[in-house]
Amino acid sequence: MGLPEERGRSGGGSGVREEAGARSRARSWSPPPEVSRSAHVPSLQRYRELHRRSLEEPREFWGDIAKEFYWKTPCPGPFLQYNFDVTKGKIFIEWMKGATTNICYNVLDRIVYEKKLGDKVAFYWEGNEPEETTQITYRELLVQVCHFSNVLRKQGICKGDRVAIYMPMIPELVVAMLACARLGALHSIVFAGFSSESLCERILDSSCSLLITTDAFYRGEKLVNLKELADEALEKCREKGFPVRCCIVVKHLGRAELGTGDSPSQSPPIKRPCPDVQISWNEGVDMWWHELMQEAGDECEPEWCDAEDPLFILYTSGSTGKPKGVVHTVGGYMLYVATTFKYVFDFHAEDVFWCTADIGWITGHSYVTYGPLANGATSVLFEGIPTYPDTSRLWSIVDKYKVTKFYTAPTAIRLLMKFGDEPVTRHSRASLQVLGTVGEPINPEAWLWYHRVVGAQRCPIVDTFWQTETGGHMLTPLPGATPMKPGSATFPFFGVAPAVLNESGEELEGEAEGYLVFKQPWPGIMRTVYGNHERFETTYFKKFPGYYVTGDGCRRDQDGYYWITGRIDDMLNVSGHLLSTAEVESALVEHEAVAEAAVVGHPHPVKGECLYCFVTLCDGHTFSSTLTEELKKQIREKIGPIATPDYIQNAPSLPKTRSGKIMRRVLRKIAQNDHDLGDMSTVADPSVITQLFSHRCLTIQ
Ligand code: WT7
Repeated sequence: MGLPEERGRSGGGSGVREEAGARSRARSWSPPPEVSRSAHVPSLQRYRELHRRSLEEPREFWGDIAKEFYWKTPCPGPFLQYNFDVTKGKIFIEWMKGATTNICYNVLDRIVYEKKLGDKVAFYWEGNEPEETTQITYRELLVQVCHFSNVLRKQGICKGDRVAIYMPMIPELVVAMLACARLGALHSIVFAGFSSESLCERILDSSCSLLITTDAFYRGEKLVNLKELADEALEKCREKGFPVRCCIVVKHLGRAELGTGDSPSQSPPIKRPCPDVQISWNEGVDMWWHELMQEAGDECEPEWCDAEDPLFILYTSGSTGKPKGVVHTVGGYMLYVATTFKYVFDFHAEDVFWCTADIGWITGHSYVTYGPLANGATSVLFEGIPTYPDTSRLWSIVDKYKVTKFYTAPTAIRLLMKFGDEPVTRHSRASLQVLGTVGEPINPEAWLWYHRVVGAQRCPIVDTFWQTETGGHMLTPLPGATPMKPGSATFPFFGVAPAVLNESGEELEGEAEGYLVFKQPWPGIMRTVYGNHERFETTYFKKFPGYYVTGDGCRRDQDGYYWITGRIDDMLNVSGHLLSTAEVESALVEHEAVAEAAVVGHPHPVKGECLYCFVTLCDGHTFSSTLTEELKKQIREKIGPIATPDYIQNAPSLPKTRSGKIMRRVLRKIAQNDHDLGDMSTVADPSVITQLFSHRCLTIQ
């Protein structure tokens, strides 16, 4: 097994990695018969048949699924063409090229007119405050989207243009993204927890011509003045010679002033005292959403797009530090998110689905917006956080809307576990049928708690492994079919052909551990890195020609179950979100006091992994708590609060190889006070290590 450097990296304090062997022999949990009875895939055997067909006849398998959707013109040529092998030329993937459609039409107009579900609730919106709620039907959502598409058209937005969106979890966020999709413009959604610097970087990278944002919002008790951050970002863009000509602002916190109006997506006035948030206004650039909407027309013919036209860009951390603009396309992404949603959550018409992820991440794109809407599902759209106003918020929402399928992250489960069972059992949760997790390996303790307490032993858990790049689920149980093993993402979804490779790129058979790769394209795979196809090829296809390389290590046990063992590159997974060490290091060295920095992942009981930073200071600077606070602030400003380190250690020097490479493997051990350092023959100066051990950070700063 060729990954010695990486042993024990993932899973944090939960000890996922160490226990993997023991767990694979532990008991497995059969799907509950009452779930299997009505499931789309009611047995493991049926799953195997469908999976086999999806790989042997991908064109027919996905072709049948495509028939469910509306195509303006059918696919004229080959259903699938691709090259996965860099040694044979350019990497490309084309599903249904030449067919034309529109994803917004498919998730709204088709549901309203063809499926006749116009009056069905698309979203129950639950605001940060429990009493702030509203709901929006498919018909109402379509009206809003048509209005806003006309607004964008009037502002000159055309097919192929890029539109940046920086908003909290409010209905207008869904309206904005679908309006872009209707016009064939690419949305680039930037999570509202990211800094103005990150927003600026993303606007510039894909030269967005317009920004959509919001005045301000609450996250729990915390007020976020988003417009101020958006203004800073636009100012930075201007300084860099890229003036964004238009910024559309939703009045969300200030909604009360607008009255209730008759707009269907209009939330009721906010009941808490509304602080006087100062919104600065740039004449000629800023425009109020509600004013533009009043003037906009009802009808908006969608822009018919090629199945292979880009749908959106979503940035994800890259190991070199610069975020990559992952590009997904209209046709394949639509088929894939619709199909994974249907089977993985075993969707039925009467379900109320709730994915707690923010739309600013891929999980929100695929399983708050596109996947559920493509199926005509009713979902919950939640603005708040699990601990506000108290730690039973999630379960009170489950009861309020009778949520049947619930999807969240292991970090949220671990956070809530700390408060015990009572905040959960206080609520009935009788509606729940299927539970899901995503973002990182789930440790067995958290899995068992989720199963026993939240799901009252009744609900199967779908542990879904996938990535921003994959568009949708890749390895996952199906709730009515797959016997579950806590901590394993089990088996591949339809169309997914995983393999485990050793360091030399040989496929390993049976029980094995190595690099997780995929052997053939599935419809939801990303097509390129925006503006940098070479980076796409290098990142995902160069290491092992012929395969898509995930960057994750994995183990396959004797029963063929897949166990993700964590990243094998310089990426960290903090609360289910990837960060690159290089990105954090470059934010640190931008501080005048820092000469050099090395960042490693460190186990954390709630976040899974947290950041442990070693900094070497420039001459004349001293290490102090003021400095660590400044460094944290610097990182928050450059990247965003999620990247805030838990530990910053003074490192008069860093352990390096004789060729000058920082030995992160050693730094990870130092952070954990693990003196079993393995082979140290390459270290240039061993005394550095003793010194670092004696100055370890003992507590979270
Ligand atoms: C990385 C992708 C896809 C949505 C959220 C994250 C890790 C994701 C699992 C899981 C073990 C997982 C992997 C992957 N990951 N889900 N169920 N079990 N690891 O998207 O930010 O693109 O991160 O998250 O390391 O490569 P992302």
